[in-house]
Amino acid sequence: MATHSLFLLPGDGIGTEIMVEVEKIIAWSNAEGLTDFAIDTGLAGGCAYDAHGEAISEDDMAKALKADAVIFGAVGGPKWDNVPYDKRPEAALLRLRKDLGLFANLRPAICYPALADASALKRELVEGLDILIVRELTGGVYFGEPKEITDLGNGQKRGVDTQVYETYEIDRIARVAFDLARTRGNKIHSADKKNVMKSGVLWDEVVRTVAKDYSDVAFNHILADNCAMQLVRNPKQFDVIVTDNLFGDILSDVAAMLTGSLGMLPSAALGAPDAVTGKRKAMYEPVHGSAPDIAGKGIANPIAMIASHAMALRYSFGMIELADKVEGAIASVLADGLRCADIAQDNRKTVGTEEMGAAILAKLKA
Ligand code: NAD
Ligand code: IPM
Ligand code: MN
Repeated sequence: MATHSLFLLPGDGIGTEIMVEVEKIIAWSNAEGLTDFAIDTGLAGGCAYDAHGEAISEDDMAKALKADAVIFGAVGGPKWDNVPYDKRPEAALLRLRKDLGLFANLRPAICYPALADASALKRELVEGLDILIVRELTGGVYFGEPKEITDLGNGQKRGVDTQVYETYEIDRIARVAFDLARTRGNKIHSADKKNVMKSGVLWDEVVRTVAKDYSDVAFNHILADNCAMQLVRNPKQFDVIVTDNLFGDILSDVAAMLTGSLGMLPSAALGAPDAVTGKRKAMYEPVHGSAPDIAGKGIANPIAMIASHAMALRYSFGMIELADKVEGAIASVLADGLRCADIAQDNRKTVGTEEMGAAILAKLKA
């Protein structure tokens, strides 16, 4: 078997705690001969700033660019609230996304049957929920220029961020979303604010043009604010939601709570297929952050991180059987009643990060 390379960037806060549980799964699959991953680990975020004054070093960027896939934990925390803006922990994440060209962010929100009562919503609203948010990840207001604060000289300042989208950026994310819809429920909602934003008008125009190539997929337009409301009112009306960088960020946190917790939501950030090899650059990370409020307590839910690794197995390495097995192990421990604090239910005893990781690994070994 060819050796596949994984570059691990655990990051800060609970990022380091949950990555340990993925490392155990990789050690197991390598030992079993199911995978042949060569692992390297780097620094990203506040820990990298502490080590060498940048959110990510050039050396680690080069390793990320070379790896078959990057597995990312989480970055950030109050310790770095006052570092220069371009060196803040989150800058590492944004640079990785941009420099690796990871424009397509897949954020599945699946409500595991055992967690239907852990959601903030009623069981009947979320039972069987399986939606996929396809978030544009390298454009929009996150990266548009100008992006600045200027002093107006009269005691006032002006903060500017710029939302920019070009046709090709919308076209390619729409095609990813339509292709994925074909493998699922054949239904798309495109969420924008074309009622107030020019970039939204273009977004809708381009997505509708792409939709003509996918006449077998049911196409719906929805305004992003209504989308947020509908996700809470009746989430099962959705299959695939395609949206821009900022709306995708917000809508995926909303969707997370339908599944029980932000600690449940994995994601895959994918680039375009290489013209020669067909391989995509990719980074896999939980949707949640470094959770400073619980960091160091050993109670973070590692499921979003482990499920992100399962997405790597599926999307970067075509190891569908193993990915199914990891996701099955997660479903199985939940069915057994195991809960971390964030998905606690019925006053039952909760387990910490390590115990949850160990239980998932035990299912894999069984
Ligand atoms: P957060 O996602 O870190 O936490 C929000 C809430 O969810 C907290 O109460 C936290 O305890 C809880 N939570 C999150 N993940 C959990 C898990 N796995 N298990 C149990 N509970 C979990 O968001 P925040 O507090 O707004 O941000 C904290 C820092 O993380 C900020 O610096 C932010 O920029 C950063 N952040 C990083 C990423 C990333 O690295 N991908 C994503 C989001 C936020
Ligand atoms: C996410 C995070 C990031 C984002 C931050 C940490 C830069 O919230 O991945 O959802 O806004 O994209
Ligand atoms: Mn977010």
